[in-house]
Amino acid sequence: MPARVISGKQVAAEIRQALSGRVEALRARGVVPGLGVILVGDDPASHSYVKSKEKACQELTLHSVVRRMPATASQQEVVAQVEAFNRDPAIHGILVQLPLPDQIDEQAVILAIRPEKDVDGFHPVNVGNLHIGSRCFVPCTPAGVMELIERSGFQLKGAHAVVVGRSNIVGKPVAMLLLSRHATVTMCHSRTRDLPAVTRTADVLVAAVGKAELIKGDWIKPGAVVIDVGVNRLGDRLVGDVDFASASPVAGFITPVPGGVGPMTITMLIKNSIEAAERTLG
Ligand code: GUN
Repeated sequence: MPARVISGKQVAAEIRQALSGRVEALRARGVVPGLGVILVGDDPASHSYVKSKEKACQELTLHSVVRRMPATASQQEVVAQVEAFNRDPAIHGILVQLPLPDQIDEQAVILAIRPEKDVDGFHPVNVGNLHIGSRCFVPCTPAGVMELIERSGFQLKGAHAVVVGRSNIVGKPVAMLLLSRHATVTMCHSRTRDLPAVTRTADVLVAAVGKAELIKGDWIKPGAVVIDVGVNRLGDRLVGDVDFASASPVAGFITPVPGGVGPMTITMLIKNSIEAAERTLG
């Protein structure tokens, strides 16, 4: 039996519906959740992501401010913009679109964000709190991955979860979240020996390496939940890290690209921004 395709688009729409109620409740108390975005340079993918974020804010009637800065902006200028958002009471969440141009130290910029406004969950305070299981902002893509796994009805407790990719944005936080749900977690990366042998043991496979269609059907355990975080351009097509054609007859559940994890990421950003606003009310 071919895999059930988990539509991130549909799940995201359901979650956004629920979030609109929280926005209304805030509005009734005189608060409009506000997101401040900083976009530096001309990377077309980053511009496209930021446009989608603005659109989602509009749809859910959040206040959104985007500061577009030239590729030549200095670290000082970017940090000054972060600090302006830190001080602005109408801005509850701050997002600095990554990657930043080479002259700017990404970590220095992230450190400048007030942790209470760090809706990306990239500040070391939020990263540390995630690791020790304290309240924090969970990074948006990993949070979206967990929602999709939960909605597949799969029981993570005791299951073997394999994460391919060890980035700070996806691989590492998603591994911590799977661990917190009592999965046994293996992290794989570019130096892992015999990667297909490891992925074949996965009850849940999260692919976040950024290599087009790397993971083939015969790398997958029959019935596994396969979550594809990859977004790769292959000619004029957008494909994931999983070869959907060979994987979907083997997997139990699989997310498509596009329309899988992607729509969830922005939804989780909106959710974190609403939560940041709610926290200001205590
Ligand atoms: N670039 C790629 N993914 C992300 C993300 O989740 N947040 C930010 N700020 N930049 C990104």
